[in-house]
Amino acid sequence: MQNARTISRPVKSDGAIREPETARPLVHVLADSSDKLSGICSILEQQFAVAGERLDAEAKLSQVPFAIIIRAELRDTGNIAAIKKRAARLAKATKRIFLVEHSSHVSISQAYALGATLVLPGTINKIKLLAALTDPAELASASSSDTPQSDNAVEAAATAIASMFTAVALGEPLDVDGTKEAGRKIAERITEHGLSEWLATVRRHHEGTYQHCLLVTGVAIDFGLSLGVGRADLERLYSAAMFHDIGKAQIPRAILDKPGRLDADERAMIETHPAAGYDFLKDHEKITPEILDAVRHHHEYLDGSGYPDALGAENINDVVRILTISDIFAALIEHRHYKPTMPRTEAYNILCGMTGKLEKALIISFKQVALTR
Ligand SMILES: [Fe+2]
Ligand SMILES: [Fe+2]
Repeated sequence: MQNARTISRPVKSDGAIREPETARPLVHVLADSSDKLSGICSILEQQFAVAGERLDAEAKLSQVPFAIIIRAELRDTGNIAAIKKRAARLAKATKRIFLVEHSSHVSISQAYALGATLVLPGTINKIKLLAALTDPAELASASSSDTPQSDNAVEAAATAIASMFTAVALGEPLDVDGTKEAGRKIAERITEHGLSEWLATVRRHHEGTYQHCLLVTGVAIDFGLSLGVGRADLERLYSAAMFHDIGKAQIPRAILDKPGRLDADERAMIETHPAAGYDFLKDHEKITPEILDAVRHHHEYLDGSGYPDALGAENINDVVRILTISDIFAALIEHRHYKPTMPRTEAYNILCGMTGKLEKALIISFKQVALTR
């Protein structure tokens, strides 16, 4: 039987073993076979210090990892017992990601019952796994061992957003269907529980660009529902919202998440994101012209003062108008650790003050979304 092994100790060109790099965050991988163990470790090694351990081995690591990844057959009672035996160690890790082989409801529930903060079912998806590990925003939720099931829906949506940004940053293919599916699930959730619950959960657990995309999608969906749009239009709206800021994937995080005012150069860089997003998506066969239009034009204003194309009202369609209002509102009510959260009333008043830029009739309809839903 193979014992615990530290995997991230590649041999240097001079033949010496490299000491574990303390600068890189430590991820601990548990699996029920050596093949699974080495497969997952090889995915993670480029970005993390990795330690692997088979579930049937007795092993203890001296360092507490920030994340534990578990890949095991959860219908096997021996595996469940082995995971339970490590419960104390598991609880210390901020992220506990279960890669569940069978995407049955039973296996997924079992993973959450064993303390998962996130479950990724089915075949292992490198992008999703790396995205789940690099999303810095879910620390708050992941550190709680009693994360309610409903919050896991938010985590899954956040993972879809994070996957999208990671794919762009790494130049890997984009999972368009997966992203749209996450949008559909947000629509389901908001239809069932309302917008306020969505806003509160997202703001509690997420920061920065991922939080923003989740909030914009939620607000746009609820705006669409309140306007009584049909299913096809609702799908256009949430798809556009999920992708709208994808161009930010190439902007340094330090600028995106900078507290306080941006200087002129930083602002100019931020303003490249609609055209960059358009360029990135334009040749993608599954991206519709409507999504492309929304990605490129969600910062345009009816009076021609927006960017990148200074479009006038006649060239800005309804999906884009709804998205722009949702985008501004979501940006205003975002939770940032360095400033108090703006109340929804105040945010709505700011929208009302943007005379000539946003459609007045839509702003009036938006009132109930902003204030009461
Ligand atoms: Fe934007
Ligand atoms: Fe945005």
